Amino acid sequence: MIPKHIAIIMDGNGRWAQKRGLPRTAGHKVGAETLKKVLAHARKKGIQTITLFAFSSENWNRPKEEVDTLMNLFRSYLKNDISQLTKEGVRVSFIGDRTKFAPDLQLQMNELEQKTCHLHQFHVVLALSYGARDDIVQATTRIAQDVKSGKIDIASIDTLLFASYLSTGEIDNPDLVIRTSGEERISNFLLWEIAYAEFYFTSVYWPDFDEKELDKAIASYEGRHRRFGKVS
Ligand code: FPP
Repeated sequence: MIPKHIAIIMDGNGRWAQKRGLPRTAGHKVGAETLKKVLAHARKKGIQTITLFAFSSENWNRPKEEVDTLMNLFRSYLKNDISQLTKEGVRVSFIGDRTKFAPDLQLQMNELEQKTCHLHQFHVVLALSYGARDDIVQATTRIAQDVKSGKIDIASIDTLLFASYLSTGEIDNPDLVIRTSGEERISNFLLWEIAYAEFYFTSVYWPDFDEKELDKAIASYEGRHRRFGKVS
């Protein structure tokens, strides 16, 4: 069975560019083109949800020029490519601390989300200024507030309730996590949500990832036996 939800850590843009003697930002620009191809292909294959780690809460510490380039890429991507997808019936959501972004970007994110929240055909989730530990902490804080105000009872706290307070609350957990560029770690991405996900690591740098590479990852997933802690 193909995965319903794929989450991708799009890694290796900088190394892809450096290998070619180009500035790191050139890698991000090609990476944005890769994303377009991958989204179109995932949709064609019948994947229901795709979550993309586009900018971590730690990425703000990169050189200003690189952060500025990424912000401009996000700006034009949301305005053109993502807006086009929403016209085609695609639902778009954002996870992460959007208050850190420029007001025009925040407005764009809110509008895209509101305009498409009723659509179910294909769901694109962009993780921007996202860190899973921060998300777990914000969920815990809100649960504590709701207990304090009497909205919920301590006895009602279980894994289902906890998950509903995460920024991914309404989204099914990923079935498959892909990380490109040869790194084999999670880097604070969706820690709670990937408890039973399958992992696929490839040495291909993100700008070189394409339809065939996505097919390989899906084929690898299809060969796995998921037991969710039970016996098969
Ligand atoms: C990781 O590669 C990539 C990022 C931090 C940015 C991801 C952004 C894109 C793929 C651009 C397109 C996205 C959107 C939403 C328009 P890296 O820079 O850490 O690479 P390195 O590990 O080789 O240095």
